[in-house]
Amino acid sequence: MILIVDDDAAVRSSLTFLLKRAGFEPEAVPGPEDALVVVRTTTPQLILMDMNFTLTTTGEEGIQLLRQVKILQPDVPVILMTAWGSISLAVQGMQAGAFDFITKPWNNLILLKSIRTALDLSEQKKEQKTPLNRTDADRKFHFDKIIGQSVPLLDVLGTVSRIAPTNASVLITGESGTGKELIAEAIHANSSRMKEPFVKVNLGGLSQSLFESEMFGHKKGAFTDAYIDRMGRFEMANKGTIFLDEIGELELSCQVKLLRVLQDQTFEVLGDSRPRKVDIRVVSATNRNLREMVKTRTFREDLFYRVNLITIHLPALRERKDDIPLLAGYFADKQSMINGLPKVRFTSEALVFLQQLPYPGNIRELKNLVERTMLVSGKSVLDVPDFESQYLSSDLKIQAASSFNGMTLDELEKQTILQALTAHAGNLSHVATALGISRAALYRRLEKYGIPVDK
Ligand SMILES: Nc1ncnc2c1ncn2[C@@H]1O[C@H](COP(=O)(O)OP(=O)(O)OP(=O)(O)O)[C@@H](O)[C@H]1O
Ligand SMILES: [Mg+2]
Repeated sequence: MILIVDDDAAVRSSLTFLLKRAGFEPEAVPGPEDALVVVRTTTPQLILMDMNFTLTTTGEEGIQLLRQVKILQPDVPVILMTAWGSISLAVQGMQAGAFDFITKPWNNLILLKSIRTALDLSEQKKEQKTPLNRTDADRKFHFDKIIGQSVPLLDVLGTVSRIAPTNASVLITGESGTGKELIAEAIHANSSRMKEPFVKVNLGGLSQSLFESEMFGHKKGAFTDAYIDRMGRFEMANKGTIFLDEIGELELSCQVKLLRVLQDQTFEVLGDSRPRKVDIRVVSATNRNLREMVKTRTFREDLFYRVNLITIHLPALRERKDDIPLLAGYFADKQSMINGLPKVRFTSEALVFLQQLPYPGNIRELKNLVERTMLVSGKSVLDVPDFESQYLSSDLKIQAASSFNGMTLDELEKQTILQALTAHAGNLSHVATALGISRAALYRRLEKYGIPVDK
């Protein structure tokens, strides 16, 4: 049974009609008092709750009811309904444990989708939380490119398998190089949207002026440089998943535009005022602390709740050292295959050495270290000194570069790039920024000097 709480009789009857038609069993009550009676005696599957009862306009009564429900029935998901102007109320509600909020006047499809997501998730929660083991996980899910069997990683894969089939928005957090993008892809690959597009957008690289035409698209002639029609990322991602990478870098003025689309699942192409509908699942990632950013008002709180129904935190590599030998072997085999070379082996001392490095650049750093060591040493058995020299070489190169010892300009440039790659753990956008060149210019140089990098 789904409980509807709203003081407006017209709203109650239209919601009842809508839910019945969608195959649910609704029961409607006019206010908090009746709602509490129901909640004390039965366990609804879900509660759809108005926040603005006529008695007070502040919404205090709604928040109060929500808190009571959360105490009596902590596991029942609650979806709040608020007026557009009262976003702060919705935010308070989310803090008090609401599952989602819908603004009035509501859109039937969005409402039903939110209800289904909430019900799916609470089903998943009920299923016993037995820890996943790797063999079972691989039998049931697609996690092929994700290597590791440490407890922290299995935890992450467990969460991914539970939430992937729902439409819930997911925020993936974790340091640079911990595999956020890989996990975003796995969420898509294990969802019912797997055959539809997975569209990645790097919000960090988008200036405010580019944001709109990139995300929404434009019609020819919409502005001076719009020579042809362009399809935006939202439209490309329709029916699939949009991956909003580096969401913490998004400027405030763009945040509000993003919020609109996520809220209404509609947007307008620049130069064309007809609103278009999209059906997208949103997965975002950041290596920044969005909660802190909300406190300092550099990230909108309402957007934070919108993208963050579920958080998946990826542990740093130093918190899952058990996986290092597996990962190193995996990257080495891949590198051998790409270059058509025989497989290499690691001495056990080398594996111990690799396990005790600090890895500020996490898995990306390990990958680069293994690949560099293989290329430079050319050996089939890799030992501690081989890794050591590659690990330390970045420091030596800094000294060499600064003394200019007989280096050509090209050599200097190459060393500078290598040094920046190490300093930024292989993150190409950071390297490009640090060197003051565009990503494209960086790619050209990487190619010129034959420097191997991922992405
Ligand atoms: N568990 C894993 N198994 C195999 N490869 C992995 C794993 N985790 C990460 N990688 C690899 O490490 C590299 C970095 O991963 P990814 O790009 O997903 O990190 P990220 O968290 O998005 O980093 P950033 O914050 O810098 O964007 C990629 O080459 C990815 O394939
Ligand atoms: Mg990434």
